[in-house]
Amino acid sequence: MTGPRFETSEEFAAAMDASDPLASFRDRFHFPKTKTGADCIYLCGHSLGLQPKTTGAYLEQELRDWAELGAEGHFRASRPWMSYHRLLTQQTATLVGAEPAEVVVMNSLTVNLHLMMASFYWPTTDRHKVLVERGAFPSDQYAIKSQIRFHGFDPTSSLLELAPRDGECGLRDEDIEARIERQGDSIALILIGGVNYVTGQAFDMAQITKAGHRKGCVVGFDLAHAVGNIPLHLHDWGPDFAVWCNYKYLNGGPGCVGGCFVRERHARALELPRFAGWWGHDEKTRFQMGPDFHPMEGAEGWQLSNPPILALAGLRASLEIFSEAGLQGLRTKSVSLTGYMQFLLEQKASPKFSIITPPEPERRGAQLSIRLLRGGRKLCDQLSAAGVIADWREPDTFRVAAVPLYNSFQDVYRFVQRFTSALS
Ligand SMILES: Cc1ncc(COP(=O)(O)O)c(C=O)c1O
Repeated sequence: MTGPRFETSEEFAAAMDASDPLASFRDRFHFPKTKTGADCIYLCGHSLGLQPKTTGAYLEQELRDWAELGAEGHFRASRPWMSYHRLLTQQTATLVGAEPAEVVVMNSLTVNLHLMMASFYWPTTDRHKVLVERGAFPSDQYAIKSQIRFHGFDPTSSLLELAPRDGECGLRDEDIEARIERQGDSIALILIGGVNYVTGQAFDMAQITKAGHRKGCVVGFDLAHAVGNIPLHLHDWGPDFAVWCNYKYLNGGPGCVGGCFVRERHARALELPRFAGWWGHDEKTRFQMGPDFHPMEGAEGWQLSNPPILALAGLRASLEIFSEAGLQGLRTKSVSLTGYMQFLLEQKASPKFSIITPPEPERRGAQLSIRLLRGGRKLCDQLSAAGVIADWREPDTFRVAAVPLYNSFQDVYRFVQRFTSALS
């Protein structure tokens, strides 16, 4: 994908916004305000997406049904709660490129990661290792290490980390493949963040899956920073599982329920070991309340509890906007917005900062990670006081994401102005 030739003037940003077919979606979101009541420049959708203006009404509908119907709402609510989670299935499947039976919205990311490892991480003396990217999100590291210990192994010998070459910030695809080829026979599970949360690097998930399966490894992805951000084709790529959260690019609200993908052939394998709960039980006999667990077919067979309807309602509001905007158009705009941000930052090149996210659009999503040599935390606070919301990850990384659903080219222009003046 190639972007337009960018220019440095503010008029250029205004012209880009004027010709943006997705520009009107900005008005569908609440923007945090500065002290003077102006919209903040919000570039933090990689952390928590903005609230759609329809979210309140979607939640109120469920509160009203609850008030008026009580338990009867499970069957008689305007959207009965018994099957409410299925209202999200098709849109979720489209977002991750899966069959509807392969996905379910449930729990939260770390819980789902544990559930997936309970089913798919079965270490043996010969094959007990887990391969992750160095600097994986801490919750993933804690979950993986605790699973390794739970099975009686030791993370110091069972956890393998992929690190960039000396002097480089990102991992090279060929190094990942070579490592899998070299050590794959001892690796039980490859678990990679589809987009790394610090560097913003997007990995070649199709290739990693192929390389892992060639060596007999289970392959899973944490898509927290990938879903709603980059194109995903999980069904075709064929990883064994994937998990994600719905509160970043998907704007489902703080702590919103997560999502889970289970590859079709596993999803239908009812004998697979799993940690069970009643909502994963075959719905035809669930309410016979029998003592033995018989899972549903599909990813739904990993559900534990009856779903949190209020959280699902918020997510439904947001996914509807996503469907309306269309994934392809969003990706085209995203490539352009992020390319424009990179272009403007490069015009202001300085030894004080460097961009550590890969420059190629196919190796990143919306996020740019800016490494600051000194005073980064202070700079982030200063920008926040000036109405620019992004975030800081210790020890040296300032993360910014121009989100195509609600950010504009003028947001990017103004951000770069403020960033470079704060820097100087
Ligand atoms: C890459 C990644 N993995 C895991 C998590 C943890 O998510 P949760 O708190 O929903 O379990 C996050 C949260 O930001 C994340 O960014």
